[in-house]
Amino acid sequence: MKTTVIFPKYSKKELPEKFKKDDNRFPEDYVEYFINKYTKKGDIVLDIFAGLGTTLFVAEKMDRIPFGIEIVEERYQFIKKNLKNEANIIHGDALKLLEYDIPKCDFCFGSPPFMGKNDPENPFTAYQEEGSYQQYIKDFQKIFSQLKEVMKPNSIIAVDVANLKNERGEVTTLAWDVGKSISEVLHFLGEIVIIWEGRESETVNGRSEPWRVEGTWGYGYDHNYCLLYQNK
Ligand SMILES: C[S@@+](CC[C@H](N)C(=O)[O-])C[C@H]1O[C@@H](n2cnc3c(N)ncnc32)[C@H](O)[C@@H]1O
Repeated sequence: MKTTVIFPKYSKKELPEKFKKDDNRFPEDYVEYFINKYTKKGDIVLDIFAGLGTTLFVAEKMDRIPFGIEIVEERYQFIKKNLKNEANIIHGDALKLLEYDIPKCDFCFGSPPFMGKNDPENPFTAYQEEGSYQQYIKDFQKIFSQLKEVMKPNSIIAVDVANLKNERGEVTTLAWDVGKSISEVLHFLGEIVIIWEGRESETVNGRSEPWRVEGTWGYGYDHNYCLLYQNK
């Protein structure tokens, strides 16, 4: 398998105005690539950080059965309204994964909410409560150890994550820290470097501005990592 893959950093699906200022979706082509690689028609695809639903919509379009969890009510409603399998999106918290009625899944793909090392808010509460980077990194283990029960034996779990560089050049080694934390509960297979091509603009405070690799929004890098784990 190639360990670097290039994707255009564009989403094809138009969003309602209210979501445009906070559009952190990943491109449909990226999801499609991994769904093709790890699943067949009829398989169950899970995204525990469903966001604005990209994994679920692409999975459904590819004749897979989507399941997802999203903590923010209005994002959940958006997915529910646009998904044929509307009962399969759960308004909930990935930290409580085992409380939900989810069948054994064939593939899990998603991107968690990100945190810089000095940020004050806890991403897993949709930034509504205070938190610490140390606790956030530990919480990945709580979440991903529950996935061991939800996923079929030997199935693949793919986690999209990036290191972060802010305007002052400070780096949060988020990808390394998340990668190591999850490796303690799931078998790590390795990483695929995802190179974003052709991105010309980014949304800053609701405005479209030229893409700044050194910017705070965007991740300060023009590549991400897709960390691959196996449930064994
Ligand atoms: C990076 S976004 C995912 C975007 C998604 N991949 C897409 O393309 O639309 C992360 C999502 O995780 C959600 N989230 C944050 N904490 C959560 C939690 N504890 N349980 C479930 N979802 C959570 C956020 O509200 C956000 O929508």
